[in-house]
Amino acid sequence: MEPTKVRTKILSQIQHMVGSAIIKDRRFLDDEQLIRAEQLAVLEEIFNANVRDTEIRELSSHFSAILRGDHPCHLAIWGKTGTGKTLTLSYFLNLLSEMCRAKNVPMRHEHLDLSNPRPCFRALNDLACMLNASKRYQKGISLEEMMIRIETKLSGYQGYLILFIDEVDNIRRDRDNFMTFLVRRLPQRIPAKLILVLVSNRLDWPDHLDPRVKSFLKLNELIFKPYDAVDLQHILRIRVEKALYPGAVESGVIEKIAAMASRDHGDARRAVALLAKSAYLAEKAGTNITFSLVDQASAELDQDRYLTLLRSAPTQLQAAMAAVIEALHKAKTESIGTGEGYDAYKLFCKRVGLRPLTGRAFGDLISELDIYSLLRSRVLSRGRYGRTREIVVDLPQELVDRVYAQILLNFELPG
Ligand SMILES: Nc1ncnc2c1ncn2[C@@H]1O[C@H](COP(=O)(O)OP(=O)(O)O)[C@@H](O)[C@H]1O
Ligand SMILES: [Mg+2]
Repeated sequence: MEPTKVRTKILSQIQHMVGSAIIKDRRFLDDEQLIRAEQLAVLEEIFNANVRDTEIRELSSHFSAILRGDHPCHLAIWGKTGTGKTLTLSYFLNLLSEMCRAKNVPMRHEHLDLSNPRPCFRALNDLACMLNASKRYQKGISLEEMMIRIETKLSGYQGYLILFIDEVDNIRRDRDNFMTFLVRRLPQRIPAKLILVLVSNRLDWPDHLDPRVKSFLKLNELIFKPYDAVDLQHILRIRVEKALYPGAVESGVIEKIAAMASRDHGDARRAVALLAKSAYLAEKAGTNITFSLVDQASAELDQDRYLTLLRSAPTQLQAAMAAVIEALHKAKTESIGTGEGYDAYKLFCKRVGLRPLTGRAFGDLISELDIYSLLRSRVLSRGRYGRTREIVVDLPQELVDRVYAQILLNFELPG
């Protein structure tokens, strides 16, 4: 091709892409990229549209005691993921602290975000760091020592202290120690008026509390209901306005995304993610967002979920999954027995230099994979020959290939 032709071609391609661009500001499609202030600004517009009204009224009534000089009790909040707990609380507490400042009420609030699970030691260390009571430690310092540092640091503060412990059920080890410290010990050892805000995504969270802690914990409870389709439409419209050019969505698309997300649990995070994925697909296709792109985006998000899950799964679990896929491929049948699976697993372990677990432990790995819906296993009775377990992988072939490729990648094996 002559050089000038290439030039014209590239120029016109770019021109076309620019002309058909639909994304104006992609940060509004991904909350991770928004700074806190922008996140809260998006939220403010939503609150103006009367979304989360009930919850905010409850919060106001709970915390208004502070401005009257009273000491409100602790607050437990739960609701499914993506119901706006973290955002609403952050927004509310910021506003409350502005009000307190204006009225000279001493108040400070800290947000301990436990959305990534961690042991009690880590969580206490994180809390201590936030309070400037400690540096970051890997180990070499006891729980007791960490607690004392926190107490010492706070010994001179007499105002209100609101500790917003987000996803509190994610403490992995010594959970009772953590709760006992916050609920029983800390309030007695510091002069501050402590108010705990304990937030969880699990509806049954209080049932898992140590009864001795529970009896101490005077609580007010607040439940975040799932967003309904109308709420989600509000939330999506604001995103569309900020992130996309006018005309980027076909009519009815916002309603469709809202309906899909409210059908699965009213999760706003998922609704925004679905909008984002649809926008990326549309941009690649050089069209606006259509119904069929939304369907495609939804299918891809489902698949991404499995892959994300696997990426962070323990190596043994990944090895078991890869082995099952290999064994099924080799057997060219719908299902395999646990014995075949275990043989394939031992071979796989040898290939990647992993020490194979016992057959029984392999069975546990299979059950765990079953819980994640990566495969299905069921026990078959073979009369007097005893019982055997059958393993089936019931996912689209394309996804199975991606899962397998992902695992090989994680083990740094050539695909
Ligand atoms: N009221 C809202 N307005 C705008 N976006 C929201 C709202 N509630 C939730 N979202 C979106 O959903 C995501 C999850 O909200 P978040 O507060 O983290 O939920 P939770 O803590 O209940 O899991 C946010 O990052 C945001 O994208
Ligand atoms: Mg949250």
